[in-house]
Amino acid sequence: MTGPCALALVGLALLGLAQPSLSQTAHECQALTDHYLEKHHKEAVPYTGSNMVYFLHVPRTAGRTFHSCLLKTVTHPARRCPKAYDHLRLSNMSMPNCYLLSSHDDFSVVSMLPPDVAVISQLRDPLDRFISAYEFAIEVAARSLRRPKNYRKKVGRIATEDVWPWSYLIPFFQEDMQPKVAAAQAIAQPEEGRWIEVEQDGERWYFNKALNVSRWNLTEEEAAAGGGVLPLLDPYDNQLVMSLKDFAQHPIAAELLHNGATFQVLGITNYSHWGDAGAFRSCLKSYDSLRDQMLRVAQERVRRFSHVGTTDRLFESAASALVSLGYSTSSPAYSGGDDDVAGSGGVRRRAGEGGGGGQGGRGGAGGRAGSGLAAQMQLQAKLVREARQRLQNAQRELADGIKGSLTAEQVDVLRGRVEALRKSLIQAQDKLASLRDQLPQELGGRGQAADKGSEAVDNVFAAQGARRRLMGAEQEVEQQVEQQPLSGGQEEELEAGGQQRRLLATNKISVATSDAFGNPLDLDFKRIPNSNVGNEFMRCASRAQQRAATRREQSLAALCTADGRQVSFSKAARKRIPADVLDLIRSYNTLDTALHRVGLGLLDARLVEQKEQGLYADMPKLPADDAQDSGLGARRANRVVKPRDERVGDELR
Ligand SMILES: *[C@@H]1O[C@H](CO)[C@@H](O)[C@H](O)[C@H]1NC(C)=O
Ligand SMILES: *[C@@H]1O[C@H](CO)[C@@H](O)[C@H](O)[C@H]1NC(C)=O
Ligand SMILES: *[C@@H]1O[C@H](CO)[C@@H](O)[C@H](O)[C@H]1NC(C)=O
Ligand SMILES: *[C@@H]1O[C@H](CO)[C@@H](O)[C@H](O)[C@H]1NC(C)=O
Repeated sequence: MTGPCALALVGLALLGLAQPSLSQTAHECQALTDHYLEKHHKEAVPYTGSNMVYFLHVPRTAGRTFHSCLLKTVTHPARRCPKAYDHLRLSNMSMPNCYLLSSHDDFSVVSMLPPDVAVISQLRDPLDRFISAYEFAIEVAARSLRRPKNYRKKVGRIATEDVWPWSYLIPFFQEDMQPKVAAAQAIAQPEEGRWIEVEQDGERWYFNKALNVSRWNLTEEEAAAGGGVLPLLDPYDNQLVMSLKDFAQHPIAAELLHNGATFQVLGITNYSHWGDAGAFRSCLKSYDSLRDQMLRVAQERVRRFSHVGTTDRLFESAASALVSLGYSTSSPAYSGGDDDVAGSGGVRRRAGEGGGGGQGGRGGAGGRAGSGLAAQMQLQAKLVREARQRLQNAQRELADGIKGSLTAEQVDVLRGRVEALRKSLIQAQDKLASLRDQLPQELGGRGQAADKGSEAVDNVFAAQGARRRLMGAEQEVEQQVEQQPLSGGQEEELEAGGQQRRLLATNKISVATSDAFGNPLDLDFKRIPNSNVGNEFMRCASRAQQRAATRREQSLAALCTADGRQVSFSKAARKRIPADVLDLIRSYNTLDTALHRVGLGLLDARLVEQKEQGLYADMPKLPADDAQDSGLGARRANRVVKPRDERVGDELR
């Protein structure tokens, strides 16, 4: 491992740089840099098939789809980490007894994971990521507009509002939009209403809310009525919510989004476990040489990741990730669910317990017991959030203390406090996880699009009588692999169960056949019959996308003016964002732009290798009727009705 040493040798040349009005002095920044290079050098190791995979989830990179639809689906349930760990701030996880973990934490969490952890990630063009984050935060914030005053959060799940960085961005937009929307909706409308322009699915027409009439064309008289036609609302710049441009320039965007992927890879986000992360980010803003240096650190770091993909090539990235993890698109697929966690099922030891063994009344009616539990969970989730906040505060205090004039003893006291708070956070998280394990399925893990998908699959499977023994032959192949690990350099293909299966000898990854306690896996447990991870991923991703679109439409319907114009994000509207706004966002994201470029290069290089070795296969194409999730169209209740008559005359403008 040459990384840390090489990094430490990079010259800093900070001292003596005369830059005006700095919040951090050169001296402080030098000290922070030294500290960073000294302490933050644990790097990812390659994936071998037997070490933990940590998915560094950069917000708005389709990470949820990537995790739920791909990684979880291909990972045997007994090897996945408990779901609670995916959402909550991670603490000391050096012995987690599980192998697949995902969180919005930044790289600073890696120091708390096992020594040989492999890391994978998805990057995205920072311009797209930023716009997507803006849209998503507004969408979720808009849901609060229609909530009754005594609204209580749905229990039994981690809400988006609880997850960094949304925990800051959603309240931010709620506060911004509430008075603006109230003012816009208070504007009195003429009795005959006003004609507005509407754009949906790429089509435009006119609509009058008071009359509830849609028209392709207006007469001159209509067009002049009530003060004239109101033009289309620009979703990125309107009176209802802070504009994209203003948001891009707001300090909160700099704190939470700009260059966020790079900061996450460096482990110095606003959510870092390192108390000095904020000060260090300020240093990066002040010193170009330090920025360059840290960009190189980040680029070096992602080169060690076992997979780096990109959101705008999601399917290719997903197919490549499978190969990098020792699978292929035709590997077995497993259904999801909250209780599919290490130690709670799916190992042979427990095979005799039958399908429901040890699964806390899953699938039973369970309503009343569930709601008591749900209340407990709501309380526990709050305790976890509070414990997390206390830990973050203490971490910051400790960092300040070390910098300040505290004695070694006083620092020790603070350090002891951080440790104690870390322990209470772990306890609180464990308690929450065990409560969630007891929760009946109808109450648990609902709400987030991609997860719903795998649960649906789960139900189908359960209904079919669960745990059917399938493809026994393939299982034998799996066992063979365990008994005689293939030596490197050769590649074998075996026919099993009519399905071709490749054993990835070339990159020395063999798919695991035991859980963290050494128990052999029951390879049929929760296995989705007659399918594979390629098909399941495509279905799950398609469902997730459709659900997200429907949900967005429903949420944004409340973000409207008195005359009926809505904030409606669309590809067409994105194309109309002025170039100066796009340039502005780019200018704030130079680190992420450079990092993304490296990510693209890594993906391309891996694809070439994987194809040369004959290991890569594209994701399957979904049959047309599979891609349509019935019932979703019907729920599009908040749409403006299209004019009933045929369009006359002109083409789409
Ligand atoms: C994490 O936990 C392990 C075992 O529980 C312990 O040995 C180790 O010191 C802990 N590390 C940290 C950073 O707390
Ligand atoms: C407006 O008209 C459509 C049919 O064109 C109808 O489905 C809808 O319920 C009407 N809305 C109101 C508020 O009357
Ligand atoms: C993270 O950002 C939010 C929003 O700007 C801020 O309120 C919070 O104090 C920051 N937390 C840390 C640890 O810097
Ligand atoms: C509708 O308006 C377009 C111009 O926007 C015009 O070319 C077309 O003839 C009009 N159609 C009708 C039926 O008025």
